[in-house]
Amino acid sequence: MSVRPDAAPAVTVPAPAVATSAAVTDADPCCAAPLPVLGRDVTVPLVTGGEVTYAALDYAASAPALQRVWDDVAAYAPYYGSVHRGAGYLSQLSTDLFENSRGTVHEFLDCRDDDQVVFTRSTTDSLNLLAAALPADCQVFVFETEHHASLLPWRDARVTYLNAPRTHGEAVRTLETALADRDPYGPALVCVTGASNVTGELWPVRELAAAAHAHGARIVLDAAQLAPHHPLSVRELDVDWVAFSGHKLYAPFGSGVLAGRADWLQDAEPYLAGGGASRKVARRTDGGVDVEWHSTAARHEAGSPNVIGVYSIASACKALTEAGFGTLVAREQHLITKVRDGLAEVPEVKVLSLFGDDSPRVGVISFVVEGWNSSHFAAALSAEYGIGVRDGLFCAHPLVRTLLGSDPQDVGECGAPEAEPGERLLNAIRVSFGAGTPDEHVERFVRAVKELVRDGAKWNYRTEDGRCVPAV
Ligand SMILES: Cc1ncc(COP(=O)(O)O)c(C=O)c1O
Repeated sequence: MSVRPDAAPAVTVPAPAVATSAAVTDADPCCAAPLPVLGRDVTVPLVTGGEVTYAALDYAASAPALQRVWDDVAAYAPYYGSVHRGAGYLSQLSTDLFENSRGTVHEFLDCRDDDQVVFTRSTTDSLNLLAAALPADCQVFVFETEHHASLLPWRDARVTYLNAPRTHGEAVRTLETALADRDPYGPALVCVTGASNVTGELWPVRELAAAAHAHGARIVLDAAQLAPHHPLSVRELDVDWVAFSGHKLYAPFGSGVLAGRADWLQDAEPYLAGGGASRKVARRTDGGVDVEWHSTAARHEAGSPNVIGVYSIASACKALTEAGFGTLVAREQHLITKVRDGLAEVPEVKVLSLFGDDSPRVGVISFVVEGWNSSHFAAALSAEYGIGVRDGLFCAHPLVRTLLGSDPQDVGECGAPEAEPGERLLNAIRVSFGAGTPDEHVERFVRAVKELVRDGAKWNYRTEDGRCVPAV
């Protein structure tokens, strides 16, 4: 069954009583965040004394919930009921909400009419689901620059890891060369990210999709970092599947999405076996059990669905669409320019980039600071300025090691290496932002970087479990 994007709900959830989801209007439009998020007034203590408003600059890991998403979820919560089971009114309402959310996501992604939207737990879950649904003997092509969620699920398939390209053209040529060498009659899949979680740089998805299709391969887009920042059209990009996570799209309630072609998914064994995925189950005379599985998205959604997670994703999709990606992108580019211009004034800072300064990018920027261990620097940003960033290898070890010039083959576990304050190790600092970020946060960040490089940390730090923490 394909879901009609315009399917009207039979039952509607009342609008939130308090209209807190309107865009911020009481500040200079160039400085205000276009969409209010939760936690925007939270204050945190500084080791040096006093408190400041927390500057959440780690959107690439998990973005704060949109106020609108929170309001929608709160308005629905009293009506919460079981999905796809239960004859009661609230079960009917919850089932409608769940299925209409599918339609909203279908529309948000501009999917083809017969594409399926499968709800999962996250991007990682979506890509593992697709990996489990690959036809026999499927060859997989993936750049070494991918996030581990895109790099690792294919380990049982025949995988070709492609070297990091340094231009968009080289990316397309590298893929074409690899595909030209493949078994032309077997199934093949290319997995590529839309926007890097390390450099924020956009990948030439449309061109890679054209190359894949020209060689009879299919392509899945890891849109974990693209979907929150850019309009995304499955039809226009001509990708076969797209995966993303709710918690990076301002909807942190534990759901994700895999959307795209139905055929491989329909032919595969259910990702999880259980209720909801099965249409008919009967005992056989020989004592075994016969199962008829659904051929719809439900085939891969066994168990009780996370209706709040799914509804929150639909709410975020609507909020971003209503705010307008034109406005959101322009505003984010303004913040990117501020950060990049500020960092460019500090000679000790080296910004990591695969495709160069002119590459189009989203609000994700990684860098190292000469003479600093990145964990120490990130700890000082937090403890002395109330700024939350991430340090480490960002679950993209081969890419970060390539960018830092160390051995790209050594893929270890996620997380920052052991470090002593003052010692420079091969890890980096990442700052990331989005629709809820006010100018003040990035301005504070740039000022903090300049002060730390010029004056050093004001506090002492020590290593605890491999991380730098204030010595208090
Ligand atoms: C590009 C990219 N792909 C996949 C993932 C995995 O997302 P999740 O942890 O939500 O499964 C991430 C998370 O950081 C990411 O940045």
